[in-house]
Amino acid sequence: MPAPADFNPWRLSVAPMMAWTDRHCRHFHRLITRHTRLYTEMVTTGALVHGDVAKHLRHEAAVETPTALQIGGSEPEEMAHAARLALQWGYDEVNLNCGCPSERVQRGAFGACLMNEAGLVADGVKAMLDAVGGRIPVTVKHRIGIDREERYGFVRDFVGTVAQAGCQVFIVHARNAWLQGLSPKENREIPPLRYELVHQLKAEFPHLTIAINGGITSGQEVDQHLQHVDGVMVGRAAYHDPLLMADWDERFWGAHVVHDGRFGHEGLISDDWRLHIEQRMVAYIERETAEHATPWAHAATHMLGLWNGRPGARAWRRVWSDHRLKGHPVAEVFALATQARRAALPVSKDAAG
Ligand SMILES: Cc1cc2nc3c(=O)[nH]c(=O)nc-3n(C[C@H](O)[C@H](O)[C@H](O)COP(=O)(O)O)c2cc1C
Repeated sequence: MPAPADFNPWRLSVAPMMAWTDRHCRHFHRLITRHTRLYTEMVTTGALVHGDVAKHLRHEAAVETPTALQIGGSEPEEMAHAARLALQWGYDEVNLNCGCPSERVQRGAFGACLMNEAGLVADGVKAMLDAVGGRIPVTVKHRIGIDREERYGFVRDFVGTVAQAGCQVFIVHARNAWLQGLSPKENREIPPLRYELVHQLKAEFPHLTIAINGGITSGQEVDQHLQHVDGVMVGRAAYHDPLLMADWDERFWGAHVVHDGRFGHEGLISDDWRLHIEQRMVAYIERETAEHATPWAHAATHMLGLWNGRPGARAWRRVWSDHRLKGHPVAEVFALATQARRAALPVSKDAAG
């Protein structure tokens, strides 16, 4: 069935996060939410021009879709090359990173410092659009400002210039990037969040798709932002507490979720469903190990929040994080983790006799 004309694919997404949102993590998130847009970690254009392309881009496109490839770079020709690869490898979007403040990225003169080079970003966007010929969207993720530049006019002019080159979707992390003196982690915590600037962008550019990002941790907050902007991107909260996404398909995508035992009485996420997700991850890991020699820990590390808040969660996590089990088959680790979790359950009256 074709999507309705007003369908907005950016309504809700999980943020690109280096070392976190790799293909294993995206597979896991996809088991929880079918429709939410997922973003890869940033891949530099240099890695795609000179490196092992399959290593960076291989993914199960049909299972994972919709997924955006995020790239980092500053040479329009290289960006065009990366965009072509995104299309070839089955990604649904190519997104340019104009928000990363790390020193390594600054040395490469891309990431957040590109906000000072709106003309160059516009050239890059144009080159990417030409390269993909409109078959997938080209989008930009950026901050509201750089260093002490806090005027709304700065981000407005950036968006205006890049939009003129044909970019129609902007994902805005609602805080400045301070390029000196803060680590990337501090740059996600210390510069204050100023959501109102992002809401203002939407009011000023109603024809553009504007998604907001930064510090959003609950469905209620998503709802509130959707009153002002087209979309919300959630990063750390979704990663650390993945079952936050359990009601997203129904709540934000209007999807009729076939009753799959996801919610038990009182609307709480059921243990059966958690176990079902874990079993599907184990099956995925077995396949990955057989086909690509992927160590189980590479994928399992992303699901450590699965049993958050349930009895035995800590004992369960300890098993899945135990490096001494590295050489063991994943099915064995799963059995040990389940055993450890169940050992922490309160003994039922029946069992106690
Ligand atoms: C571990 C980690 C890695 C990140 N890597 C990227 C990245 O590769 N590209 C990017 O645009 N943002 C990256 N970010 C920033 C997130 O995409 C997001 O903008 C930021 O975490 C704020 O959103 P949140 O408060 O919902 O987490 C990263 C964040 C984290 C925590």
